[in-house]
Amino acid sequence: MSGIVVRRSGPLSGAVAISGAKNSVLKLMAATALAEGRYVLHNVPHIIDVDCMSDLLRSMGMTVERSGDHDLTIDRPAEIVPEAPYELVERMRASIVVLGPLLARIGRARVALPGGDDFGPRPIDMHLKGLEQLGASFEFAHGYIEARADRLTGANIVLEYPSVGATENALMAAVLAKGHTVIDNAAREPEIADLASFLNRMGAQVIGAGSSTIRVEGVDDLSAVEHTVIPDRIEAATFLAAVGVAGGEISLTGARADHMDMLIEKLAEMVMRVSPTTDGLWALAPERLHAVDVATLPYPGIATDYKPLFVALLSVAEGVGIVTENIFAGRFRYVDELIRMGADIRTDAHHVVVRGRTQLSGAPVRAPDIRAGAALVVAGLRADGETEVHGAEHIDRGYEDFVGKLAALGADVTRES
Ligand code: EPU
Repeated sequence: MSGIVVRRSGPLSGAVAISGAKNSVLKLMAATALAEGRYVLHNVPHIIDVDCMSDLLRSMGMTVERSGDHDLTIDRPAEIVPEAPYELVERMRASIVVLGPLLARIGRARVALPGGDDFGPRPIDMHLKGLEQLGASFEFAHGYIEARADRLTGANIVLEYPSVGATENALMAAVLAKGHTVIDNAAREPEIADLASFLNRMGAQVIGAGSSTIRVEGVDDLSAVEHTVIPDRIEAATFLAAVGVAGGEISLTGARADHMDMLIEKLAEMVMRVSPTTDGLWALAPERLHAVDVATLPYPGIATDYKPLFVALLSVAEGVGIVTENIFAGRFRYVDELIRMGADIRTDAHHVVVRGRTQLSGAPVRAPDIRAGAALVVAGLRADGETEVHGAEHIDRGYEDFVGKLAALGADVTRES
């Protein structure tokens, strides 16, 4: 287990480059199962989850190699093994998104059932229902899904909830299905639009991605392409939270304001200034922000991934804020860690009430997941003494050189192995 040690810092200043989006690149990598050939992805972040997905593609028989600074080359041979073994799905839940492309292209797949995680139960019923509507059938044995489909056929899929993963699985299956598919109540995240533009470049016919209704006209074949991954809005939000906690003025090169509208509005209510620049975002935060209430919602609402960052921001803001979680019932585990740092937080079902303090008190804490881990580091920027965040490998799953980038902004933060 490795840790990150952070001491009270600020005001922050300078610029950092925002990496490619984790939650986009993982799905683009899965989509390469759809067609033979050589793919080149640009702006691929150096994060553990990309290594996990690379291992999964390799286990299927593909060649995956990094080149240059942030390029990833994937060679998908004519034949691949349509299987996602337990060891890899267990390391990374997002592996479930190979199900749609494998079914569409090969007509069968054997994928380990992902379990719950630190957010609580993580069902995949909507993924399966969407694929069933396209003609797939499933059997469950020994912890695996055995999926089959002769040839998928277009269908009208209405998702019960705009699940990101279920939308992606249905979309990647529909591109090779026979006929027309409509995915209604689809997730609208920018990462879905990025996946659709990748698929269209491969020869798919997808319109409406990024809205609630996605229409797909199935095609017979697709081909390998080159694509640049969109910037990671959650990473950008993390640095905005850092400057919000520590104060200062920073620039985020490559970040896209149009992917973060609601977040920027919320931060403005907290009296932080965030504006688009020609190549990213600029942010100016006063010594102390004002408290606001926040509720997580599917995109374009405030992302559940931003929530730990808001709780950290409110812990040291002026006033009282209520944060309501509407996406993942159990996503509050880091709250106890913030309380150990002196934060005044009360939890009531899926709400937390945060009463801001002028500063926190550095303590040893544990990162329970990627975003909560990053939020604990951010909170440490306004804690006296030393905050040791253990379990930094969670942070490495989704952040490229988090410590190096924070340090470049003037934060007093170091990595301990
Ligand atoms: N859900 C179901 N049934 C399903 C699918 C989802 O009940 O079949 C429920 C989930 O339990 C949850 C809600 O629907 O309560 C939303 O889940 P969704 O499917 O939208 O999330 P996901 O695809 O599993 C992605 C991101 C998460 C992010 C969520 C929500 C990836 C790899 N993961 O997960 O990101 O929090 O969307 O925006 O894209 C992270 O990056 O750290 C992360 C956890």
